Amino acid sequence: MKLFELNNKKQIPAVGFGVFMIPNNGPTYDAVLAALKAGYRHIDTAAGYMNESDVGKAIKDSGIDRSDIFITSKLWLQDYGYENAKKGIENSLKQLGVDYIDLYLLHQPYGDYLGAWKALEEAVKEGKIKSIGISNITLNLWDKFKDGMSIMPVVNQVEFNPFVQQKELRKVMNKNNIRLEAWYPLGHGNKDLLENKAILSLADKYNKNAGQIILRWIYQEGVISLPKSTNPERMKGNIDIFDFELTDEEMQSIQILDTGKPTHDPEDLSNEKRLMSVKIHD
Ligand code: A2P
Repeated sequence: MKLFELNNKKQIPAVGFGVFMIPNNGPTYDAVLAALKAGYRHIDTAAGYMNESDVGKAIKDSGIDRSDIFITSKLWLQDYGYENAKKGIENSLKQLGVDYIDLYLLHQPYGDYLGAWKALEEAVKEGKIKSIGISNITLNLWDKFKDGMSIMPVVNQVEFNPFVQQKELRKVMNKNNIRLEAWYPLGHGNKDLLENKAILSLADKYNKNAGQIILRWIYQEGVISLPKSTNPERMKGNIDIFDFELTDEEMQSIQILDTGKPTHDPEDLSNEKRLMSVKIHD
């Protein structure tokens, strides 16, 4: 697995296995165990996915050294604010059954964000978290929060794929040395994307499938991807992307597919209202 370097000099596997919407108590356990067997060494979960405990169990049962696996989790909105965030971090550590988390993100950009960020910064100093980052941050939200941060986020995890390239946001994140991470890297199975002509013609040329072309393109863009699959063959295929290279022209043939329109707008007040009301514990 290829690694990328973060702005704190730590390394992160370029492709991680995402477990969004995979249920706990079995399915996540099976999927993570299969992913580790397939060669993934980076698992992306969240308190809000409510499957951290299955992730932790699968990692333990895999027999792979904890230090060889990169674990990302995220703090849910209900646990924002300084005091609540400290408890939320402890809870993630407990659910995962680990004594440190490699990367911990603020999942959504609402509520007492900077209070929660302060708790994350302290957890870094205490060694409970190695790196901290942000998620679903647009340019406006970045302007709102950035001055209240004393540790720079290492990543911003946002919707990213050939149809959603976040070009303006990337320019600013690049300037700050904050790497993008891609959620929905395969457009969440969007057929228009997976059956796009330009992508299929590259798949034909390199004897790969459309998903592999997209993930290779994301890798060459310098973006970390978090593809999700519950199918062991596709799981394996999605990290079998390091034996070919797209030319500059081929990269451009995908760059022009950008629609500039994410499906999720974090600045939409109805999203804020909906997400703020999601409770993951009493
Ligand atoms: P499945 O679980 O049956 O493999 P995203 O990561 O963008 O959210 O996309 C996940 C969706 O894409 C899932 O529905 C997954 O289905 C499907 N998927 C995962 N890998 C591939 C691939 N290589 N080609 C086509 N579809 C894929």
